[in-house]
Amino acid sequence: MKISGIGSSLPKQVVTNQMLAEILDTSDEWITTRTGIKERRVLSSEYVLDLAVDAAQKALADANLEPKDLDFVIVANVVNEYVTPALSCIVKEKIGAKCPCIDLNGACVGFIYACDIAEAYYKIGRVKNVLVVCAEAPAHMLDWHDRTCAVLFGAGAGAAVLTPGDNIITTRLTSSDGWDRLYEMHDLQWCPYDKKGSTNLPLVMHGQDVFRFATSTCVNDLNVVLKDANLTADQIDTYFIHQANLRIIKYIEQMLGQPAEKFPTNIEKYGNTSSASLPILLDETKRAGKLHEGDMIAFSAFGAGLVSGAMIMKW
Ligand code: ACO
Repeated sequence: MKISGIGSSLPKQVVTNQMLAEILDTSDEWITTRTGIKERRVLSSEYVLDLAVDAAQKALADANLEPKDLDFVIVANVVNEYVTPALSCIVKEKIGAKCPCIDLNGACVGFIYACDIAEAYYKIGRVKNVLVVCAEAPAHMLDWHDRTCAVLFGAGAGAAVLTPGDNIITTRLTSSDGWDRLYEMHDLQWCPYDKKGSTNLPLVMHGQDVFRFATSTCVNDLNVVLKDANLTADQIDTYFIHQANLRIIKYIEQMLGQPAEKFPTNIEKYGNTSSASLPILLDETKRAGKLHEGDMIAFSAFGAGLVSGAMIMKW
């Protein structure tokens, strides 16, 4: 398969570091130096669904395809306003597609998971055109009084239309122990026989553990996919790294011995948008004219689980 169309969508509400410093014991200087984030977008009047539909329609237009041409819709999402049906069912209906659809929660690795599942469908000959949408609002899982989490996340959506091709070179997915390093729980509806009491808990994050996991797994995953693809780090034109913390991205640059120009970023504008981070970055890089046919590109992401993934693709 190959990516033939890409699109993204962001909420209109901008929250700057200065705005956070007015409600939390934090500062622009702390957030900028520790994370690279200057501002993020959060939902105000929009729903996660609206971002998903907007990104999907832009990706379809970019691919020059109609919704009726789609054979499968995969939506990567951690949290949205609907528990059921799957967000993909609503996205599919809103855009006017008539195909099977499924959601997956791959945390911040959702884009790579979705591409890998789609590729399996291509390999067994089940699909011609697939829509992958990553729509997320991690900033809405946390306690906005907790400065350690509230500064990191934003909302956004990115989408990719996949069509036949042989552009995926190799993919690696991993999972490691440590689900309790990063999680959120919420109450189920009341039931008279349930004796557990409230399980509502905003995002719990052991930042330094996640940081250590991210740096080691991303470098390892990238080295493994490079080896599998029989490529050197120098032969990759652009590295798309999950936008969680600029220090993590800089560490990966150093460990691979690659120049900063090969690592586009937008974390300064959007913070961490979970699985949407990679397709939003891909879309912006493409629209900036920085992707060329035949370029070798690598993706790497990590997230709650703890899970990680990397993929090498020819553009
Ligand atoms: N403003 C000011 N001070 C703060 C803030 C803040 N927003 N947050 C924490 N601090 C303080 C701490 O209280 C601590 O103070 P103390 O020394 O008096 O105890 C001090 O800053 C240092 O805290 P650390 O946790 O050691 O800071 P660190 O340099 O590790 O940075 C961070 C924290 C940014 C969370 C970092 O650990 C990180 O990025 N981890 C990875 C997080 C991540 O990627 N999460 C998401 C991944 S998965 C997904 O995307 C869903």
